[in-house]
Amino acid sequence: KGLFTYDPGFVATASCESGITYIDGAAGTLLHRGYPIEQLAENSNYVELCYLLMFGELPSPEEYEKFSGTIGRHTMVHEQIVNFYKGFRRDAHPMAVLCGVVGGLAAFYHDNLDITQADQRHVSAIRLIAKMPTLAAMCHKYNIGQPFMYPRNDLNYSENFLHMMFGNPCENYEVNPVIAKAMDRIFMLHADHEQNASTSTVRLAGSTGANPFACISAGIAALWGPAHGGANEAVLAMLDEIGDDSEENIQRFIDKAKDKDDPFKLMGFGHRVYRNFDPRAKVMKETCDEVLGELGVGDDAQLQIAKRLEQIALEDEYFIERKLYPNVDFYSGIILKAIGIPTNMFTVIFAMARTVGWISHWNEMITNGYRISRPRQLYTGYDKRDYPNK
Ligand code: CMC
Repeated sequence: KGLFTYDPGFVATASCESGITYIDGAAGTLLHRGYPIEQLAENSNYVELCYLLMFGELPSPEEYEKFSGTIGRHTMVHEQIVNFYKGFRRDAHPMAVLCGVVGGLAAFYHDNLDITQADQRHVSAIRLIAKMPTLAAMCHKYNIGQPFMYPRNDLNYSENFLHMMFGNPCENYEVNPVIAKAMDRIFMLHADHEQNASTSTVRLAGSTGANPFACISAGIAALWGPAHGGANEAVLAMLDEIGDDSEENIQRFIDKAKDKDDPFKLMGFGHRVYRNFDPRAKVMKETCDEVLGELGVGDDAQLQIAKRLEQIALEDEYFIERKLYPNVDFYSGIILKAIGIPTNMFTVIFAMARTVGWISHWNEMITNGYRISRPRQLYTGYDKRDYPNK
């Protein structure tokens, strides 16, 4: 009934050309503008990576200073946005709040919304990258009923985020450098991942000419699902449900994940593209050991369950045959929990970090020229029929 290529889930469809990120799923390779993620995680930082993703090259020291200073100058949000938060229930999920608030930014920053102008697109991109930590931390503070914290531009990107999350007006918040470094690394490991569901959503929304705040809000909504960014929160819920690291208990959950009549899946396992290992998960695991060591919680019960679960799954025929390995979300949740980030903020942090990837893809699409994305379908409904006479 149709003349079109049928590719549900876009397993074999390239939707665009892009020069930003390269993934070789079989080899477990992830390159941003040609640089391996492992080298970037070791030697770079999130703000430098933002520059690389946006402009295609690493910045010189002068370019870095200028770029990071510009981000610093855009961290505050319009004071009226506080009222926007106040319209939400205190117990609203922070991702629900974030979708609304980010979409609403177009109502506050409409002075540079001519998307045909590169300089205006740039201003919006900077605003989004700079304001996301402020907006994310505000979701948390609103949730727990504490005052919003203003950003501090003497701190770097991750330190500032920790300050706005955990600081309060009554006492000075001391940022632990090991924790700040781990946070920065989590941001880096989530910064971009080519045409995943949320990035494709941003491109698709952008292909209509929609403004960047609306497009990023669409991306945040797509990221929320448990098969995508929502998996980091789901991993922790799963570890809680498993409860103890005895072999027979863990085996019971592995068996559930293998049972095709049971919808349960091992959260934090599997990936559409990586069929060997997720290189981000390797770095994440190292960071996890560092953070838990620093905080003296290396014997954390959930970490023990996670490690045992990983070990048993990786030796199981089902997971071996299907090439299912831990993905980036498997260890990130354990690190975030150890840092003291509440579970309902995990996907918000993913969204914050991925904003640079989304906006870089949006800008690349507009710069390179595009047509509206308009997939076709294979129609499976009725043939034409007449409306009955009554
Ligand atoms: N637990 C148990 N079985 C699984 C899992 C899992 N986590 N993941 C895939 N499978 C099975 C799946 O049932 C299928 O089996 P069969 O061939 O017998 O039908 C086979 O492995 C192939 O999987 P698929 O569903 O065709 O793979 P997909 O590319 O459509 O989905 C995925 C990829 C990531 C959505 C899926 O692996 C999944 O739901 N994983 C759990 C959620 C998760 O961790 N998501 C985070 C992904 S990485 C970060 C991000 O993108 O945000």
